[in-house]
Amino acid sequence: MKQGSPVGELIVTPDGSRTAQSLRFGEAYGSRHGAAAQARHVFVEGTGTDQHPAPRVLEVGFGLGVNFRATLAEVARRGTALEYLAYEFDPAPAGVLRAVGAGGEGANHPAWAALLAGWGQASPLVVEVPGVTLTVHFGDVLEAELPQSWATALYLDGFSPARNPEVWTPALAGRLAQALAPGGVLATYSAAGHVRRTLAGAGLRPERRPGPPGKRECLWAVREA
Ligand SMILES: C[S@@+](CC[C@H](N)C(=O)[O-])C[C@H]1O[C@@H](n2cnc3c(N)ncnc32)[C@H](O)[C@@H]1O
Repeated sequence: MKQGSPVGELIVTPDGSRTAQSLRFGEAYGSRHGAAAQARHVFVEGTGTDQHPAPRVLEVGFGLGVNFRATLAEVARRGTALEYLAYEFDPAPAGVLRAVGAGGEGANHPAWAALLAGWGQASPLVVEVPGVTLTVHFGDVLEAELPQSWATALYLDGFSPARNPEVWTPALAGRLAQALAPGGVLATYSAAGHVRRTLAGAGLRPERRPGPPGKRECLWAVREA
């Protein structure tokens, strides 16, 4: 299995969390203004995962696992179960995930330790620990068979539309909308007009909301029940 996307130096962000630069895409994996803050605000809170009694999360772009750790910390705090399904076609080395996560939120959860132990060994990677099931498919989400009407939350977290346009297309948005359960919420850090129109065209109801540190706005989009 391919593993070892070239990653630049780690970047310590203002909230103390870390991210890194993808040398392949020429962009940081997470926000330089606060990687953990973005994960929590845009994705965990933006999808209502912090309120949901039994979240089922689908993520496009597992990256360095920052969103996963933020979600783990949230479900651990509330004692709720979590199912997490992610796609990643260019996995970074396990050592980079370990270094980015060290001492960060969720990093002391048994699911994170199990993920690091199994990362890069097989696809899909399946981690099952009490209360948490994680499946990471190491492949292109464009070619994946997505679950239907399943996700309570969808984290759309590719690189920017300029650098990673294939995950922001109407065709993928339509498939992602179908993967959401009725009432489920897709969240993303981009509030660009074309992203809003693409999500609306997929049958979702996108709305802007205040952004995380360093960003005026981000988006959430509901699949109407
Ligand atoms: C902004 S980073 C994601 C950061 C991540 N969510 C985190 O919490 O660390 C974007 C990720 O999407 C992945 N990606 C981009 N296009 C993809 C595709 N077509 N299929 C699967 N993964 C993709 C990239 O390899 C990269 O790891």
